[in-house]
Parts: sequence; C-alpha cells; structure tokens
Amino acid sequence: MCPGSFDPVTEGHLDIVRRARTLFDQVVVAVGVNVTKSALLPPTQRVEMFARATASMSGVRVVRMSGLLADLCRDEGASAIVKGLRGGADFDSEQPMALMNRHLSGVETVFITGDPGLSHISSSMVKDVAGHGGPIYDLVPEGVADAVYHALDINVPKEGVR
Ligand code: PNS
Repeated sequence: MCPGSFDPVTEGHLDIVRRARTLFDQVVVAVGVNVTKSALLPPTQRVEMFARATASMSGVRVVRMSGLLADLCRDEGASAIVKGLRGGADFDSEQPMALMNRHLSGVETVFITGDPGLSHISSSMVKDVAGHGGPIYDLVPEGVADAVYHALDINVPKEGVR
C-alpha cells in the first residue's frame, strides 16, 4: 500500500511506486486526504492523474481512500505500507503515522529512500513554483503540469512547454 495525498503526483512519487513494485507483486496507490493540508486538486482528479501516470506499470492499482488507511489495508489485505523518504525531516513526520497505522492495523510501514536526484521534488514545492509562474514540466508526469497551472489560475510559462 502506497498512501499519500499526491496533490499532485510527482516524479518522486512515481520513483517510490516503481521501487515498491520491485519488492511487492502488487502495489495499491491510495490517494487520501491529509487533514493537516488543504488540497489544491479534488481527490477524483488526483486519482485520475496517478492512474494515467502508472497505466503502463503492471501490478499497480490506484484507489481513492476516504476513510482510515488502517481499514483500507485490512480491506485490501495489504502486507505492508510503503512510504518514500527524502531525508530526516520526512522520517520525523512519517514515524508517528507509521506507529499509528501499526497500532490500528498491525501493518508495518516500510521506508524506501528515493532517487537522490529527485529529492528536491515535493507536491508543495511544485505548487509553489507553479504558483509563481515557474516551470514544473520535468517535476511531474505528463499532463499534470497544465492541470496544476489551471487550478492555480496561472498562465502556462512558454519556456516550460513540452
Ligand atoms: O502525502 P501525505 O500528505 O503525507 O499523505 C498522508 C495520508 C493521506 C497518507 C494520511 O493523512 C492518511 O493516511 N490519511 C487517512 C486517514 C488516516 O488513516 N489517518 C490516521 C493515520 S496517519
């Protein structure tokens, strides 16, 4: 189970899903709501974007998570929760969630270190750059950048078009 808010999905998220898929036969990407963040894109759009970005990957399924991750893990029969770490700050925010999810479901969280070449990428950084009219095309999968500019009401930067 690869859970996240994915607002929007980035190349960093795809890297973690690819790595998770080398460890597990089936990967379920759970697109959920993080109550500590206010989302830019609606959940259905986030699910669609992730599904399109992973369409060519076998054994990967994208679902919307509207309740507890622990309940979805039980419903899906998940053997592990997989999260990506870019550095220590990520671990600090992930550890309480991992402990709570283990408390609620007994399912362990496995942490994967992502590609260091992608460690500057986060959904919030992508939205910040896009919100200032900067180019985000090489930070997110095909089709995602325009949706982010549109949601932010930003004109597409000419130099970034691909
Ligand atoms: O990408 P994020 O924002 O770190 O993802 C957080 C997310 C959505 C995975 C987390 O908030 C979550 O699991 N939400 C579902 C509700 C839940 O189970 N909360 C308790 C355990 S954290």
